[in-house]
Amino acid sequence: MIKQRIIVAGGAGYIGSHVCVELLSGGASLLIIDNFANSHPEAINRIKELAGAKVDLLQADLADPSQRKNIVDTVKRFQPTGGIHLAGLKAVGESVAEPARYYRINMGSALTMAEALEAAGAKMLVFSSSATVYGEENENPVAETGAASPTNPYGRTKYFIECMLKDIAEADPHWRIINLRYFNPVGAHPSGRIGENPNGVPNNLFPYIAQVAVGKREMLNIFGNDYPTKDGTGVRDYIHVCDLAKGHAAALRYLDQQENGCALDMNLGTGAGYSVLEAVAAFKRASNRDIPYAFAPRRDGDVAEIFANAELAENLLDWRAQKSLEDMCADHWRWQSQNPDGYET
Ligand code: WQD
Repeated sequence: MIKQRIIVAGGAGYIGSHVCVELLSGGASLLIIDNFANSHPEAINRIKELAGAKVDLLQADLADPSQRKNIVDTVKRFQPTGGIHLAGLKAVGESVAEPARYYRINMGSALTMAEALEAAGAKMLVFSSSATVYGEENENPVAETGAASPTNPYGRTKYFIECMLKDIAEADPHWRIINLRYFNPVGAHPSGRIGENPNGVPNNLFPYIAQVAVGKREMLNIFGNDYPTKDGTGVRDYIHVCDLAKGHAAALRYLDQQENGCALDMNLGTGAGYSVLEAVAAFKRASNRDIPYAFAPRRDGDVAEIFANAELAENLLDWRAQKSLEDMCADHWRWQSQNPDGYET
């Protein structure tokens, strides 16, 4: 197999930084494209430190038409073998308030990434999709054949990008594409050197719990305790970000081995669902810190319960999530306690 030369769009972000460390440790060469809108340049230093390898970096905005030519030329010069597209906005609530911005940035950046890879003759792409494409009427565990009915603009951008990439692959069978549908990525690299670094008040459960544990937030509001679930609180399929990163490396290996073109949707989850209260209890055990909470009204757009059928990735990619909820909490806590102000620390 020839040495992988991978473009990682959004490589300085939470998922992206863990994917870069995993790919570098597997011997790949990387060109990271990031505009640092929702990430920090320090993450690039930490990636190089952890991997003991250099990376090429292009600070650019894939959604900015005026930067498109420079991006395409830089990608062509790198002579990639493929790409991973993680760049985009990802806050569900914000997407409801600013839909046009979400469509412009998420769809525009994905299209520029695909066109840059095509111009470089590297028609191999792993796309960072999301379980949000499933909406709320599928039976659990949800398989890739489940109905795609996203209930918010963020989820619709993910679904529309999946469709756009499938249309591109349909028109040109040299394209090999996997849309990875992440369930709930949490945790951090065991070193504590890279992790989730949300701007402002965290939207997601784990970073919020971690900030309560470290004393940055007073208490956790649990959105709804009257759901038809094991304890009334929302149930999700939390997956360790390092397992998720390994899933990306496995997806690239799979695509690299394909003789013919393909465009596949693939869940990355553990197949297990944990409630908010179970996550809080696990985090308390891992951090040995109290996590004060109060029950609050349900959050608009939340589903009661969703967890993955991950058999397709297990069978095709020979990949399976290995880490437990305890690992997720312990690693998330190590990152948070060692970096109380994230990369600003
Ligand atoms: C998990 C559970 C909340 C915060 C979203 C996106 C998804 C992906 C992950 C980008 C739910 C509850 C949360 C809080 C709470 N993002 N909760 N108090 O909504 O399942 O998924 O983030 O890719 O695409 O849809 O994750 O962590 O926000 O919520 O009670 O302060 O925690 O109600 O039950 P979600 P989440």
